[in-house]
Amino acid sequence: MASTHDIIIDTDPGQDDAIAILLALASTELNVLGITAVAGNVPLELTHSNIRKVCELAGSPDIKVYAGADKPMKRTLFTAEYVHGETGLNGAQLPEPTMPLQEQHAVDFIIETILSRPDQSVTLCTLGPLTNIGLALAKAPEIAPRLKNIVIMGGGLFEGGNVTPTAEFNIYVDPDAAKLVFDAGIPIVVMPLDVTHKALTTTARIDAFRSLGTKVGKAVAEWLDFFERFDEEKYGTDGGPLHDPNVIAYLLKPELYAGRHINVVIETQSDLTVGTTVADYWHVTDRAKNAVWITDVDDDAFYQLILERLEVFK
Ligand code: BDR
Ligand code: CA
Repeated sequence: MASTHDIIIDTDPGQDDAIAILLALASTELNVLGITAVAGNVPLELTHSNIRKVCELAGSPDIKVYAGADKPMKRTLFTAEYVHGETGLNGAQLPEPTMPLQEQHAVDFIIETILSRPDQSVTLCTLGPLTNIGLALAKAPEIAPRLKNIVIMGGGLFEGGNVTPTAEFNIYVDPDAAKLVFDAGIPIVVMPLDVTHKALTTTARIDAFRSLGTKVGKAVAEWLDFFERFDEEKYGTDGGPLHDPNVIAYLLKPELYAGRHINVVIETQSDLTVGTTVADYWHVTDRAKNAVWITDVDDDAFYQLILERLEVFK
């Protein structure tokens, strides 16, 4: 029997975030306790509305969605409409959501959920800047040992950065929050650009989603057609990286992934390299290991997994 997970998804949709949410909602091994919105790819008003659009597309209007931080802990918000489009979900047109946004703040929901559930039973899946998690840790540090683990899309070592030469977007936007998370002693798994750049949205893979012939398949294909154009131009590849669904796929099939347990420290001081994940992949320091740094994925199996799971949506 596949293991089951109680998860909170913290996210800033984003086309790849949207596909990660669909994958989670399609998977019976995952019990989605709630989805929390953070400002990132686009401002908060759009991210919480985009989450609800995706839940409704998935036929899951009962999922609890919470709005969180509208800006990083200490810095000005940097957004990525240049990648994701003005709405964050450009490519497919979805109706305005009718399901409610919860009144509770995302940070309080995260704290309350972790403290009220059995010890080490909750997994945090973070697909955006780590602001909500950083704020939760600052407000209630006692949540750290209560978490099972946290699976983070963010950072890069061998692939460098995608916002600056060394910094990846999710860490760059709120390095102060990321530092709190990486220093908190929580078991961490990181999906950096090193692995997501090995999972490209090739023409054949997008066509397979379109061939599902469903509303979900059509939306996914249209999102990816839009989303990939930026990275295709930048990297000269057939398709762009599909980042965030790796977080969910890892929980479903960890055997598709390979990585190394290492030390990761977040740079917050240097103007030149702020937001860099200083990843000690070769163990050249004696700093304590705090994260599993994933570098490899069986990319065909990853896309097959998403395709098969999305078939559940009729
Ligand atoms: C990350 O930044 C966003 O653009 C994507 O949604 C992903 O979470 C990749 O750097
Ligand atoms: Ca994201």
